[in-house]
Amino acid sequence: MCGIVGYVGRQSAVDILLEGLTNLEYRGYDSAGIAVNVEGLVELYKAEGKLQNLKDVVAQKRSHIEKSTIGIGHIRWATHGAPTTNNAHPHSCNCGKVAVVHNGIIENYKELREKLEKNGCTFRSQTDTETVAHLVASKYAQVKDLTEAVRLATKELEGAYALCVIHQDVKNTIVATRRNAPLLVGIGEGEYYLASDVPAIIQHTKKAMYINDNEIVTLTPDTMNYIDASKNVLQPKIEMLPWEPVALSKMGYKHFMLKEIHEQPDVVRNVLSGKLRAKDENIVLDEVTLDKETLKNLNRIQIVACGTSLHAAMIGKYIIEDFCGIAVDVEPSSEYIYRKTITDKNTLVIGVSQSGETADTITAVRQAKNNGSHILIVTNRPDSTMAREADSLIPVNAGIEVSVAATKSYMAQVISFYLLAIYMAEAKSGVGVDSLTSSDANWLNELKHELIVLPQKIEEVLAHKEDIQACAKKFSNSKDFIFIARGINFPTALEGALKLKEISYINATGYTAGELKHGPIAMLDESMPVLSVLMQGKVYEKILSNSEEAKARNARMIALTNSSDPKLNDLFEAIIRIPESNELISPILAIVPLQLLAYYIAEFLGKDVDQPRNLAKSVTVE
Ligand code: F6R
Repeated sequence: MCGIVGYVGRQSAVDILLEGLTNLEYRGYDSAGIAVNVEGLVELYKAEGKLQNLKDVVAQKRSHIEKSTIGIGHIRWATHGAPTTNNAHPHSCNCGKVAVVHNGIIENYKELREKLEKNGCTFRSQTDTETVAHLVASKYAQVKDLTEAVRLATKELEGAYALCVIHQDVKNTIVATRRNAPLLVGIGEGEYYLASDVPAIIQHTKKAMYINDNEIVTLTPDTMNYIDASKNVLQPKIEMLPWEPVALSKMGYKHFMLKEIHEQPDVVRNVLSGKLRAKDENIVLDEVTLDKETLKNLNRIQIVACGTSLHAAMIGKYIIEDFCGIAVDVEPSSEYIYRKTITDKNTLVIGVSQSGETADTITAVRQAKNNGSHILIVTNRPDSTMAREADSLIPVNAGIEVSVAATKSYMAQVISFYLLAIYMAEAKSGVGVDSLTSSDANWLNELKHELIVLPQKIEEVLAHKEDIQACAKKFSNSKDFIFIARGINFPTALEGALKLKEISYINATGYTAGELKHGPIAMLDESMPVLSVLMQGKVYEKILSNSEEAKARNARMIALTNSSDPKLNDLFEAIIRIPESNELISPILAIVPLQLLAYYIAEFLGKDVDQPRNLAKSVTVE
């Protein structure tokens, strides 16, 4: 949600900034802007709408702007104030010498604004960020030191922020700081980069340093001054970023989403690698530190997450309860944080997040941590804020996910839950809580075998994508869509519906099939497609009956099934078939056709698949 990039060095800054913003565009794309210093003057260039609009603005004065070797840039997902050019970052002060870009929300901006206006500041935007520009300018007027001005200004800020600031009177210098919003410094030769996320700078350097809350860095081409909020000098902890620039290329696919769907067989191999070595060996989760005592005393598990990660968590609940016999609650983080939650040191709290930066989930796990619970984080970003809250970590290893609609990260999260559930079943038996009978152990070994052969089965599903494309074409004019499933595949129905609505804007809803006749059935007629997730196992016949009920109301029936029963041809107008698997494993295979169905429908409708309207990749505000 919003993206920041900064550069100070000896190269022309403008292309570095625009390229950085391009690689962050998936995080927000309402408006964008850059601030540069050309021949001693700070200049702002901004545009509303997609980044291309800013590129067009810059193109008109390129030969002039190119002279700047310093700059900060921002791509916005609007929170305070509409996505207009005026509200786009960078923001400035009365004299125009300061430029600020900001991710996060300044919660006390109204009070600050009132105070600043009384002191003569004129505001040009409705944003919370502009208060920071005026505040830094007023502090700078007093102390004549930009680092100190930023430090003093942040003392008055409440809320979350990643900030980069330049000042016309302080040549070749960027000051940056953060609180509860990510920011990192990329280190080059005679140059530094700043970014809210790795993709903005990975083309230029893999050497980087993450800034922690309340720390301040002051960068010139040759120096990095690094202090904490009390002005103590800190030693930079430099690391090599584990990302390859190629992750940001579409590799010949039309959209990142399609590329990422196709990466899933390899994602599964990566997640399993080193953790599931052979079906008769115990699962190894190196960074899970649940000790014997905690495991023995564990009385419940709570899982908090949002959106797609929440759906992965729902599958997690099902299998942990099934494999380990521990009660698991799953709750959207945004609900969890506003009620009295019963947690203590015998509760394991699991936070699930692709980005590791989702504000509600971070708050939820911090709340649970304060209650003494063991915190386990399942995330695609072991370098994220959430991962730093973890007592135990499962890095899901899906690689950078650029498409706003999560696909491969969901796959990696779901697989991680299977590993965790089996790990806990094995660990609990190891500490004598529940001993595994030989039939339990054989059954777990069978599941492990199914996980090992999954990548080939996903490849088989992908090999039949033309059938799914044909189905998508047939139903692409529908205004609404219903997905039904039961048991472990109910989250599959929810996730299939979420994928479809977020990228095609078709009103899609997932229901447990048994609930259909308790209300939703009223919506069925000949214009309504109903997709049944019909996997062989204990609820197969039940869903079949629910599908009959829907058909009897003239709904247009689609089956997603691993059954080859010819009778299905009479009931369903379209059938998407996937390879057979154990019912407990079926959600992993079933989601792939639903991702493709959503993708192809959105593509037929000509939607902006990778950057759907109103959305942003990582939701860093509550
Ligand atoms: C849907 C999607 C969102 C995210 C949600 C949580 O495709 O991407 O629903 O799943 O915003 O984000 P993370 O997983 O980063 O916490």
